Amino acid sequence: MRVAWLTDLHLDGLEESEVDAFCEKLASCGGDCALVGGDVGESDTLEGYLDRIQKALGAPVYFVLGNHDHFGTSVKRARARAREIGERGENLHWLPAAHGVALTASIGLVGHGAFMDGRIGNWEDSTYPFKDPSRIEDLPEEDREALRLRLSELGEEAAEEIRCQLESALVRYSEIWILMHVPPFREACWHDDLEPEQADQWLPFFTCGAAGEVIRKVARRHPDHAFRVLCGHTHGRREAQIEPNLEVLTGASEPGNPEIERIFELE
Ligand SMILES: [Fe+2]
Ligand SMILES: [Fe+2]
Repeated sequence: MRVAWLTDLHLDGLEESEVDAFCEKLASCGGDCALVGGDVGESDTLEGYLDRIQKALGAPVYFVLGNHDHFGTSVKRARARAREIGERGENLHWLPAAHGVALTASIGLVGHGAFMDGRIGNWEDSTYPFKDPSRIEDLPEEDREALRLRLSELGEEAAEEIRCQLESALVRYSEIWILMHVPPFREACWHDDLEPEQADQWLPFFTCGAAGEVIRKVARRHPDHAFRVLCGHTHGRREAQIEPNLEVLTGASEPGNPEIERIFELE
């Protein structure tokens, strides 16, 4: 089983010929499925790009939404659209509606894009230029406290969804992969080019702390299971061992130069 992991492709920043060139790479990678970790395009381009990825690969594509995939609409409508895409029955599967997928007999896949939820790092003093409220309809733009509450609510929702998905996957698989967009832990964010103080101010927008709490709790309660999170969003590559049985791989993607993040060969 060859699993191709893609994240943060941001295809809408490219010329058509560059998207075609990326699809050719996909077509020749020999993947038996692809995991797409969000930020494929924006709300009006997501579906078309997912179709092209799926057709190029000729195999099932499992996806979650990144924050950019909501740009130009609301969270509610972006999710409703993702659900519809998954229901078309054309080998495109939105993971929050897929109820767990078997990658092998022992490895199960669940997923949720999650949302930056303002919990980790220094929200009060943050000068991070957070543009999403001007692009996502149901994020408050002016009132900072209202924004914090809304992000916190979205983080809680994601955490609860992930908890439910994990619960049913635990009885079927000994290893569980969790495909996300926003990293759930501080340790899974890439900040090499930032001073520590600045990094602390960016973390509220780079992590989903509520999801991390749930994942860590489940991993601690089930030491006999292995957990692997695949995420992106911070555009830096890193691997973090959070618990003995919980690792997080964060994917990197260079804007304007989409690549297959990694191919996993599973027995
Ligand atoms: Fe991104
Ligand atoms: Fe992102």
